[in-house]
This record gives sequence, C-alpha cells and structure tokens, in this order.
Amino acid sequence: MKISKVRKIGILTAGGDCPGLNCVIRVIVKAAISQYGIEVIGFRDGYDGLVKNEYIALRSRDVSGIINLGGTILGTSNIANPYRYPVTQGKKLILEDRSKDAIANYKENSLDCLIAIGGDGTLSIASKLIKDGLNIVGCPKTIDNDLSGTDITFGFESAVVTATDAIDKLHSTAQSHHRVMIIEVMGRYAGWIALYSGIAGGGDIILIPEIPYDMKKIAKKLEERHKVGKRFSIIVIAEGAKPKGGKLTVAKIVEASTDQVRLGGVGSMLANAVETMTGLETRATILGHLQRGGAPTPFDRNLATRYGYEALKMAVGGKFGCMAALERGRVTSVPISKAIGKLKTVPLNHPFIETARAIGTSFGN
Ligand code: F6P
Repeated sequence: MKISKVRKIGILTAGGDCPGLNCVIRVIVKAAISQYGIEVIGFRDGYDGLVKNEYIALRSRDVSGIINLGGTILGTSNIANPYRYPVTQGKKLILEDRSKDAIANYKENSLDCLIAIGGDGTLSIASKLIKDGLNIVGCPKTIDNDLSGTDITFGFESAVVTATDAIDKLHSTAQSHHRVMIIEVMGRYAGWIALYSGIAGGGDIILIPEIPYDMKKIAKKLEERHKVGKRFSIIVIAEGAKPKGGKLTVAKIVEASTDQVRLGGVGSMLANAVETMTGLETRATILGHLQRGGAPTPFDRNLATRYGYEALKMAVGGKFGCMAALERGRVTSVPISKAIGKLKTVPLNHPFIETARAIGTSFGN
C-alpha cells in the first residue's frame, strides 16, 4: 500500500452525461482503495448531491462490471450549480446561492479532495469552489470535445461512432430514394462531431459553426452532383452551424442552466431551404441524445481510465486546481483555469478540412 496523506475523497459527475463516465468512477474507486487505502464517496446527481449532502459510499464491488455502461452510476445534473441553485416557488424559478451548503458538506464529510468529472460548466463551478477553499481536481469529459487545455475529451469518440453509424444508415436510404439526406449532430458551438463523423461517413457537405454557410453554394454543390448522375447527397450539419450573417437556431432556453441555450432545428430549416432552392427531395434527421448514450468505445474506455487514474494521483499528490489532460498522446495535468472560459473550436487550418476539400467535400462556403 502506498502512503497518502489524503484519506478520504469525494467524486461527482456533473453536466451532460457521456460514455466513459463510469470508467473514471471505476478506476478512481478501485485504485484509491487498493493502492492507497483511501475512502471514496460519490455525490449523487453532480453538484446537487454536494449541496444536499446526498452521497453513497463507494466500495470496490460497487464499481465492478460498469466499464461498458453508458451514463453514470452516480447520476448527473446540468442545472445544479451551487452558486445559482434552482428553486421553484410556485411557478417561479429562483436561483439561490447555496455554495455555503456545498462547502459545509465537503467539510462535514472530512474530505481531503473532491474529483469533479465534467466539462466547461462543471469545471467553472469547481474553480469557484477552489477559490472558496475546497481542494478539487478535475477530469475532462464531453461529447463536444470543446474543452480547452486538453487535446481530446472522453465521450467524443463514442459520439462520433454513433453519428457515423447513423450517416451510414442514411446513405442507403438516400441512395434508394435519390434524396438529399441531412443529419444534424450535436456539439454546441464547436463542429468537432460534425467534422469527424462527416468525413468518416463520406458526407458530401459538412457544415460547422466555425465556417458560416452560404445557401447558394450548398444548392450549387447539390445540383452539380445531380447533373453528373449522383442522385443522392448527404449533408452533415452541426447544431451550432449558421448561415453567413445569420443566427444560431435555438430549440429552447433552460433558465436554470449555466449555458441556458439549447440548440436544435437548423437541419430542418436547411432541408426546407434546399427543397425550395433546388427542387430536390430532402429529409432531415436530428440525431440528438443518441450521441450521448450507449457503451463507450474501447478508445474512450482507455482514455477515461487513464484520466481517472491521473486525477487520483493528482489528488494524492496535492495538485489541487488542476485537471487531467491529454497532450500529444501523453496524459498529464494542466491548471483548470487553462480549460475554462474559452471553448476549443475547430481551427480553420485543421488538416481534416484540407483533406476533405481535396476529395470534393463542401463546407458550404
Ligand atoms: O454538451 C453536450 C450536449 O449534448 C451538447 O452537444 C448539446 O447541445 C447539449 O449537451 C444538450 O443538452 P441537454 O442534454 O440539456 O438537452
């Protein structure tokens, strides 16, 4: 058994779920107990559990057989921010500062460190709690892959596999019916999922938030394909894509959430525009939360496991205020401040874009 001053840690999974969260929980619990004799508790539903002091003790047997499970055995919430905690009074939603409760519960449980597994929102809250005196280390997750400070987040590859599988399925029906098929994928303000699945799925047009599209260019590309006898086309569009000079398509506003905007619907709008401009029969599919579900890919299981172990070592080593990260294939730690505030979007000189253009893929510009 290795020596550790850290005797008890808490973990929580917050924000939108993604495949791989259980792999992180599993490695932290197993390694904490077997390597260091550390006690681990898991807060329920992200920061909600910290505010309400709802947790479960995690033993090795509690995390057995979960490596292949999607979601999180701890539950999560993307609205339970201790600093803007949502409370409904009648029909009114009030946001209260419950950070004192969160801090008191951390202390009451005699925690030496909290491991917060999440994306930008979760880590921004962690950073405030750190300023308020808690010892926290972070572990980066999100299907969107939009977190700065790390080359990749776990969950992303699993989402890309789901999206690519969906594009493959749309291909065959597009071919049979000689249609334009549009698939809208998630990713918020970044086009990573659309770019990676669009190329892997052989999309003819890929539309990402980083490259505002021009409807005329899209119509021209579709008509050109039609003229040379290619009687179907596949368009992969990120939910955050927008026309040149246009706006994001917002599906709803979630008042209590840190980022209140929920995107969605740009694919259907595009389908109408394509039909009107080209006369080509067009259908749109919104892939939605399927991208967040299901078993993590082997790559994500391994990445999440490596991140989880790194986070534990950071906790034991007193590297508070840092998160696990991937830098050129190596797992390392970076300050949480490097990850928050600025989203990692697709750079316009990304080599994937150049490669796709070389084979005639249009980015709608
Ligand atoms: O951040 C992950 C994500 O799935 C985004 O891709 C998407 O825009 C958003 O969360 C959806 O949020 P919700 O689960 O609240 O609908």
